[in-house]
Amino acid sequence: MTRKPLIAGNWKMHGSLADSRKLVEALRGGVTAGARATMLLCPPYVYLSAVHEWVRGSPIVLGAQDIADKPATGAYTGEVSGQMLSDVGCSYVIVGHSERRALYGETDAVVATKLKAAQAAGLTPIACVGETLEQREAGETRSVISGQVAAIVDAAGVQALAKAVIAYEPVWAIGTGRTATPEQAQEVHAFIRGLVAARDATIAAGLSILYGGSVKGANARSLFAMADVDGGLVGGASLVAAEFLDIFRAAA
Ligand code: 13P
Repeated sequence: MTRKPLIAGNWKMHGSLADSRKLVEALRGGVTAGARATMLLCPPYVYLSAVHEWVRGSPIVLGAQDIADKPATGAYTGEVSGQMLSDVGCSYVIVGHSERRALYGETDAVVATKLKAAQAAGLTPIACVGETLEQREAGETRSVISGQVAAIVDAAGVQALAKAVIAYEPVWAIGTGRTATPEQAQEVHAFIRGLVAARDATIAAGLSILYGGSVKGANARSLFAMADVDGGLVGGASLVAAEFLDIFRAAA
C-alpha cells in the first residue's frame, strides 16, 4: 500500500497576516524534504498567495478551504474558481466541510459539483463526510456516511476518487476536544474504504482517508496507527506550530 500520510491544517477563519507568517516560518523549520508524510496548509483565501511565497522551496504544499461550484469564470460575486486557486499555488482544496454544510447550506449535490470543479482545475479535492452526534446516537452513522460517499460517487464516478482524498470528520468531534477513539475512527474509515471497494477495489486501496476532529499531538499517534487512517485534517491544533509539528511527526 503506497498511501503517503497527509497532515492537513485547516486554519478556518483564524489569524492575521502577521500570525500566519510566524506560523509558517515555525512550521518550515520542522518539515524536512524526504519526510514520510506531506504537510498541507489551508489558510483563508486572502492569505494563499502570501503563504505560497513563504513555503517556496520547502516541501509544504498549499490548499484552499473551499471552491466555487462553477467550473469556469463568470459573474459569481464573492466566489473563487479552481483555476484561480491553482494560479496562486494550491494543489488541494477542501470540499464539503461540515461547517460549509451546516452553516452555508451546502448539499451533497453541491459538494459533488465542487469536487468535480476542483478536479477540472487540476486540484486534488479533500471531500469531508461525517455524522452529527444526534445521528451517531440514533445509530445512523453508517447510513449518513454511505449517503455522503454515494452522492459523490454517483455524481462524479468512482474514478474521481483515484485523484481525491476523503476526510472523515465526525461533527461531534470538531472543535469540541472530544476526539473519536482510534477504534471509532478505524471502524468508519474501514467502512468508507469498503463502500469504495464495492465499486473499485484498486481505487479503494489507494484512497487516502484522513481523520479530523480534535486531533492533537497527544492523540495523533494512536489515530494514525490505525490501518485505514491515512493522516489528519486538523483545525485548532494546526494554528499552534509546536502542536501541529507534533502531529506531523506522529505521521512522518
Ligand atoms: P478541530 O481540529 O479544531 O477539531 O477541527 C477539525 C476540522 O474541522 C478540520 O477541518
